[in-house]
Amino acid sequence: MNDVVKPKRIGILTAGGDCPGLNAAIRGVGKTAIVEYGMEVLGFHAGYSGLISGKYNVLKESALSGILTLGGTILGTSREKPFKMAKNGDNLKPEKIKKNYAKLGLDAVVCIGGNGTMKTASLLAQEGLNVVGIPKTIDNDVWGTDVTFGFDSAVQIATDAIDRLHTTANSHQRVMIIEIMGHHAGWLALYSGLAGGGDIILLPELEYNIRSVCKKIESRYEDNKPYSIVVVAEGIEHPKDKSAASHIAEAIQTYTGIETRETVLGYIQRGGSPTPMDRILATRYGSFATQCIAEGNFGTMVAIKDNELTTVPLEEVGGKLRLVESDHGLIQKARKMGVSFGDEFL
Ligand code: F6P
Repeated sequence: MNDVVKPKRIGILTAGGDCPGLNAAIRGVGKTAIVEYGMEVLGFHAGYSGLISGKYNVLKESALSGILTLGGTILGTSREKPFKMAKNGDNLKPEKIKKNYAKLGLDAVVCIGGNGTMKTASLLAQEGLNVVGIPKTIDNDVWGTDVTFGFDSAVQIATDAIDRLHTTANSHQRVMIIEIMGHHAGWLALYSGLAGGGDIILLPELEYNIRSVCKKIESRYEDNKPYSIVVVAEGIEHPKDKSAASHIAEAIQTYTGIETRETVLGYIQRGGSPTPMDRILATRYGSFATQCIAEGNFGTMVAIKDNELTTVPLEEVGGKLRLVESDHGLIQKARKMGVSFGDEFL
């Protein structure tokens, strides 16, 4: 009788900032592993902390039912960086991870996260673990893929917020500033700013000046448009003792005398159920990651290039950011339509 092929035993973890779609990705990995490949799936708690502590749940197919539409992550997450040197100089965490990986008889681990998560995944791969990464973040700034899951849902949330600001700006004839997440990248502010009809969009990638911002607002007043919507990425240059939105609002109020109010959208952008597009993308990534494991394609991150699934080596991804190009097509078209990026009078 042929030896029964031992079903592979794989681990899965979610790390870094949470976002809608994480559970859809977990479901994609897990159901493909169980149904297609007969694998056993261990869900590790709170990102890399779970690999260090060895805390996990076996994810049966029943545990994966009903989570496709669920925000957040059923596994929990953390920003644990196992390779970050401890204050006392020693760092036993990578050894603990390798020991748990061996003791639990894992064949591979799927790491779902952003830049920092992919960096750690790459280091674990160099330590000999079989690792496959899945790019996740509302910031959409993971190098090597066209799009991360979480981004579409955050664009939806931020755009809805901007839509709502139009009505109150118009009613009060005010300038409304909204601060959008994105860390050091401006993707979220760019997409939601355009989708929401922002008049001025400030991105970390484009140096702005207040004079340009104020001139745009005053010119709108002269065109009988006594209100404006200013979309500000949180990563723009600003004093660190205040929010980017407050900094811009104070400057506009000071230099133009026009009534201004600010909204920092914050963690709302990371909450709630994923959009259908994010559910599809997360499912595609998850199922493909498991296929990569079955095919022995380790040390890689699954990615989308021109809407096709592919993989990129983790060592190429770690430590890099994918930022908005200053001549991005969306920026060019927006400028032609009169949208200001705060840099017209540099
Ligand atoms: O990376 C996602 C993100 O929401 C960024 O947009 C934001 O700057 C950061 O996380 C906030 O980090 P934390 O959740 O640790 O406050």
